[in-house]
Amino acid sequence: MRRTARHAITAATAALLWLAASAASAQPAAQGSYAQRYAALCAACHGANGRSEMPGTPVLAGQHSFYAITQLFLFREGRRSNEAMSAVAKTMSDQDMRGFSEFIATLPPVPAPPPATPPDAARMTRGQVLAQQYKCAMCHGADFSGGQQVARIAQQKEDYLQMTLREFRSGKRPGYTMAMVDALNGIPPEDLDTLAYYIARMK
Ligand code: HEC
Ligand code: HEC
Repeated sequence: MRRTARHAITAATAALLWLAASAASAQPAAQGSYAQRYAALCAACHGANGRSEMPGTPVLAGQHSFYAITQLFLFREGRRSNEAMSAVAKTMSDQDMRGFSEFIATLPPVPAPPPATPPDAARMTRGQVLAQQYKCAMCHGADFSGGQQVARIAQQKEDYLQMTLREFRSGKRPGYTMAMVDALNGIPPEDLDTLAYYIARMK
């Protein structure tokens, strides 16, 4: 049986309070310097405006600070793993994790470039049915914009969505809570790919 969203969110919220507590009072001066540090250290992979063009690399534009800090924390502690990103996160202090997350949250969503070919209507319909069946909008919102520690997935890249959904499903990406592992329980791989196809193209 699936755990409730409320249970997952309460656990995550409680454990992250210590990180979030001072985020609200971040210095305005530090924002400027984290913008510069983002441009120098992160933009090469994640894009200057937060829309990455590098394969396997997520769009950060429009992402929530609470979600971003959770993920930086997981990378730093070795609970989420990627050679490049783990190396970056291991250099971060708690203040850096807050500063970068606050900066990421200031990057407005960037629309996906127009697709080379028009979306396959049957696959889009199938993706929509799957998203309803597995209640993705219950946590991610009707427009998939997320909130708090729930990721924004609207306008995310298909290759990254496909990879990360498969990793949740296989257990390679455990997540901060069991929310995603539970949500994807029993979905066949080809349906995960259809979900990635649909979410990346949804208007
Ligand atoms: C060498 C390329 C590279 C650099 C430099 C880099 N990242 Fe990443 N980042 C990645 C990749 C690749 C992932 C996805 C890893 C995975 O899931 O396998 C990622 C994931 C993330 C995530 C999680 C996003 C999500 O949707 O879950 C955040 C937040 C993030 N990076 C922030 C940063 C910040 C802040 C910096 C600069 C201090 C930075 N990254 C520098 C490649 C990079
Ligand atoms: C019970 C709430 C819940 C449900 C239902 C849910 N999600 Fe999530 N989702 C989350 C949370 C919380 C995260 C952050 C992951 C973590 O714990 O590290 C997340 C993360 C993700 C990510 C990773 C985003 C990134 O930038 O790396 C994707 C993709 C995603 N969800 C897609 C889906 C899809 C598709 C569905 C429906 C099949 C779904 N989610 C259903 C709560 C939920």
